[in-house]
Amino acid sequence: MRSLTVYQDFVGIVPLDLVYVASHGGMQYVPPKMRETFAAAAAGVMVQNVYFYGASAGLGAVVHGRLNWRQLAEHMSLNEDEVPIFSQTIWRPAPHNRAPV
Ligand SMILES: Cc1cc2nc3c(=O)[nH]c(=O)nc-3n(C[C@H](O)[C@H](O)[C@H](O)COP(=O)(O)O)c2cc1C
Repeated sequence: MRSLTVYQDFVGIVPLDLVYVASHGGMQYVPPKMRETFAAAAAGVMVQNVYFYGASAGLGAVVHGRLNWRQLAEHMSLNEDEVPIFSQTIWRPAPHNRAPV
């Protein structure tokens, strides 16, 4: 499934690949026109928190917006109102090197 979260080969070997999914059905309190904005803002905040933790723990992290949305939604068995927005790849860099090990 990792290969669907990004179009770069290295993701296949990293230990953790997070997928952020907007659940439009879970945003009943948000006016329909604003749901995409809310979901993007919420995902951005979460992604940033993971970046902060990664920086503090010496982990590498990178966010990806170019996903294979349709196939990913299918493989994750998402409902019609659930949309994968970003993926975020996490790895432990090799010493003196930012590449994944
Ligand atoms: C919302 C968002 C989506 C992104 N999507 C992609 C993407 O799909 N593919 C990609 O190579 N970089 C993407 N980037 C850029 C990378 O996350 C990263 O910032 C870039 O590769 C530079 O990383 P570095 O500063 O660690 O070298 C995206 C950045 C943001 C903020």
